[in-house]
Amino acid sequence: MKLILIAAVANNNVIGGDNKLLWHLPADLKRFKKLTMGHTLIMGRKTFESIGKALPGRRTVIITRQSDYKAKGCEIASDIKEAICKVREDSDVFVAGGGEIYRQVMGLHYARRIFLTRVYANFEGDSFFPNIDPEKWELVEREEFQPDEKNPYPFAFLTYKRRK
Ligand SMILES: NC(=O)c1ccc[n+]([C@@H]2O[C@H](COP(=O)([O-])OP(=O)(O)OC[C@H]3O[C@@H](n4cnc5c(N)ncnc54)[C@H](OP(=O)(O)O)[C@@H]3O)[C@@H](O)[C@H]2O)c1
Repeated sequence: MKLILIAAVANNNVIGGDNKLLWHLPADLKRFKKLTMGHTLIMGRKTFESIGKALPGRRTVIITRQSDYKAKGCEIASDIKEAICKVREDSDVFVAGGGEIYRQVMGLHYARRIFLTRVYANFEGDSFFPNIDPEKWELVEREEFQPDEKNPYPFAFLTYKRRK
């Protein structure tokens, strides 16, 4: 099992505000769907509530300290360790945020890759992606895009791999 962090991150590392995404970038949503379809997602309770429902075609594990938390079509874990334990038979497990969860997962040995959409704009928000330490993470793929009629900001799809 390997964990793959997947996130869309502004220049200033903001990922959201007031429990919402701050931009609409259909190209990123499409990539998220393509990469995660048929796989497992792990996410924090706040991110789940921000999405509002289980995403079709994906096993979803929500991390919460609330022992009685329930969400239709999802599994619940009381911490990161329990979430990892539940999904250990799955090959690729995507960690879909938010900020609290990325921060706790990024340093774990299981976290092997980061699929990051860098949105080249600054936003004011209250959730952040952690700094990516270049000594620990190597940039292995980079695809740059200009804005178009559907996607209002320039952006890049970046893939990082954990160095040994
Ligand atoms: N741009 C992106 O790619 C992206 C992706 C995902 C999310 N987001 C944004 O990020 C924001 C949400 O992120 P966030 O950091 O506020 O919240 P979050 O990480 O989604 O969820 C935080 C919650 O997870 C649970 N949790 C965290 N650590 C835990 C642990 N060790 N053990 C048990 N439960 C734990 C707690 O739930 P309880 O309070 O229920 O105990 C905590 O309140 C939103 O604005 C969302 O739109 C952006």
